[in-house]
Amino acid sequence: MKNIQLAVIPGDGIGKEVVPEALRVLDTLSEVHGGLKFDAIHYPWSSDYYAEHGEMMPKDGLDQLRQSDAIFLGAIGDPSIVADHISLNGLLLKIRREFEQVINVRPAKQIKGIVSPLGNPRDFDIMIVRENSEGEYSSSGGRVHNGEDEIVIQNAVFTKKGVSRVMEYAFQLAEQRSGHVTSATKSNGIVHSMPFWDEVFSEVSEKHSNIPTNSEHIDALSAFFVTKPHTLDVVVASNLFGDILSDLGAAIMGSIGIAPAGNINLNGKYPSMFEPVHGSAPDIYGKGIANPIGQIWTAKMMLDHFGEPEMGNVLLEAIESSLEAGIKTADIGGHSNTKEVTDAIIARIKK
Ligand code: NAD
Ligand code: IPM
Ligand code: MN
Repeated sequence: MKNIQLAVIPGDGIGKEVVPEALRVLDTLSEVHGGLKFDAIHYPWSSDYYAEHGEMMPKDGLDQLRQSDAIFLGAIGDPSIVADHISLNGLLLKIRREFEQVINVRPAKQIKGIVSPLGNPRDFDIMIVRENSEGEYSSSGGRVHNGEDEIVIQNAVFTKKGVSRVMEYAFQLAEQRSGHVTSATKSNGIVHSMPFWDEVFSEVSEKHSNIPTNSEHIDALSAFFVTKPHTLDVVVASNLFGDILSDLGAAIMGSIGIAPAGNINLNGKYPSMFEPVHGSAPDIYGKGIANPIGQIWTAKMMLDHFGEPEMGNVLLEAIESSLEAGIKTADIGGHSNTKEVTDAIIARIKK
């Protein structure tokens, strides 16, 4: 059995409800199937932590995390305590940036037992590859307070290194899958960054001439996620476009509460971080009804990351089987609560 040092940050809201559930599932998997065992170290960093300490994590927080093999995070954000841009930039986005988690991989595929809001779509299996370190999320810009002439500038930063890296990753992924890459662009309206994005996409695609490609404007592509998701395979997108497409991908699967994600550090210098696509869902926090599948499926991505796809497949089959048995939370049309869904998944792993 291989031991993995796992830094666990439940964070805020339903993060505190679904993370312990996913850890229960991981523990059961280790007991039943061997392979990997996760030694969890819990960090209470969150908006509550901010209320007490005036910061989202201690000054040496990143140094503490650096020791771990991976980070397993729930969700961050409680705007009733601290503004989102402060909490997110003080913890989640800080980890993504400082640990060079430059790629965010977010699958959107049909799984058994969930009815897509699209009705009866043809089978789709999309991998969104989101640039995770620059683009529209840059800290470059400023605000000029000048009465009625007030101006705010938010720069988007696209580097050759950053753009070609995410595209290269997308092509390599496509080579292992059905083999198609779609680029999300907006070069018809955005004059500097997006024509550059297209240019780099052409360059990288030339190196992978076996992989067919297309380039779609983000507005049209959003519509295609709804009207013809089965035509998409790997979708490569800038930070903000990828963020929006991944909630759309989650929605066509059935719920934002089931979508998983991995923030990948490519150079091996820092741990990667696994967290679901959804946020802290303050509207349902405390009711015990959050869907734990996003967090549990995220655990499967972590198993794949550590080279244990068999454990991951057992996990996904257990998720599908309990969904097919109708054990579902309200967001996907069921009546079960968070714990009941987890218990059903655990029972199937033990079978
Ligand atoms: P959200 O994802 O938290 O919620 C959007 C909607 O989806 C809500 O109606 C919520 O109830 C529902 N939902 C989300 N997860 C669910 C689950 N597991 N089960 C059932 N329903 C679920 O997005 P939001 O409302 O825009 O943001 C709320 C807070 O979370 C904000 O502070 C935001 O900044 C933060 N946020 C954090 C992350 C993250 O940590 N990665 C991601 C997104 C949003
Ligand atoms: C996500 C979230 C974050 C993002 C927010 C909370 C900063 O929406 O992980 O998708 O935009 O990346
Ligand atoms: Mn998002």
